[in-house]
Amino acid sequence: MRIGIPRESISGEKRVASTPEVVKKFVAKGFEVVVAPGAGTAAGYTDQAYQDAGASLAGDAFDADIVVKVRKPSLDEVASLRSGAVYIGLIETCETDAVLEALFEKQVRAIAMERIPRISRAQSMDVLSSQSNIAGYRAVIEAAAHYGHFFPMMMTAAGSSKPARVVVLGAGVAGLQAIATARRLGADVYAYDVRPETREQIESLGAKAIELDLGESGAGEGGYAKELSDEAKAKQQALLADELAKAHVIITTALIPCRPAPELIPETVVQRMRQGAVIVDLAAANGGNCPLSEPDQVVEKHGVTLVGHTNYPAMMAGDASAFFARNVANLLDIMVEKTDDGLVLKDLEADEITQAALLRPES
Ligand code: NAI
Repeated sequence: MRIGIPRESISGEKRVASTPEVVKKFVAKGFEVVVAPGAGTAAGYTDQAYQDAGASLAGDAFDADIVVKVRKPSLDEVASLRSGAVYIGLIETCETDAVLEALFEKQVRAIAMERIPRISRAQSMDVLSSQSNIAGYRAVIEAAAHYGHFFPMMMTAAGSSKPARVVVLGAGVAGLQAIATARRLGADVYAYDVRPETREQIESLGAKAIELDLGESGAGEGGYAKELSDEAKAKQQALLADELAKAHVIITTALIPCRPAPELIPETVVQRMRQGAVIVDLAAANGGNCPLSEPDQVVEKHGVTLVGHTNYPAMMAGDASAFFARNVANLLDIMVEKTDDGLVLKDLEADEITQAALLRPES
């Protein structure tokens, strides 16, 4: 059974779907692995390292039984896939588009890593978590780099500085990692999430939970947030405004699956913020939690720096690829079994994890 690891084709994507460490494990299990030349270069993994791990660099990585790529394929890439192959990656599937239609047409079994259910048994396969963790960390590092002051309290012979006041909005995987990272840097951290159960998690990381009475809960299905009513949205913005205006740094991560990101930081709040404050908007790709942030840009408005990068994991491509590769290897452990006739793909409908992640024309 052949696994193909192509080069990523989306602009700025530096990750690679498998690393030499994981390729070595695939080869030991009996897979043949074809890696596209240069596929790992931007993430720091050389062609030689893949070869040493047992991969072949000759041949078309799309011509395989299982193709693993970080991001969605292009139409040309779908054309290169074998009919009936398995494609594993982040397929970002809120609605059926031409690429999905082409995958279905070709009877490719597409496994969308973002649909792996958030259940204990699937934690080791959870790409959303492994990559969001990196995003939360990197967001704080970016904020610290753009902020012209210290994060920790500093007492020096030249005088002292107060700790930065950091507010984290959204306490999911990225938000919790942002809280932990900002705390490690010595900032005073405040955090808010619309799901009430996050309070304990926020406090366990040494931050203060901001509590707002919105008159309704934002907890939706499967641990995700749901969209609030217009009335609750307005109340939320008004109640948050004073907390946000006091912040030196805001890391905002609030997302609702397949919906535009909620607007939590309106322009009127940015106008009230201190000169030199920094907003890192992790929702910039989904419309932003702040309407002033611009995707993939760092801009200054009303004296506030707005950081709108949309692919933080690619900025830490070495570790991000290592986590992604291990997540996929754990998924393949439940998808493929060893029989007397060699490696065999199991029925993808028979396991709740693969069943949830497998895309179908109607899904
Ligand atoms: P996400 O990336 O979809 O959203 C980020 C955060 O934004 C969420 O915590 C959400 O509640 C919050 N948010 C949405 N609208 C908001 C608003 N208007 N104001 C403030 N905050 C708002 O979330 P993520 O990180 O993917 O986590 C989703 C859920 O999955 C969580 O409940 C998390 O604990 C759970 N989870 C479970 C795992 C498992 O059991 N295997 C693994 C990882 C996460």
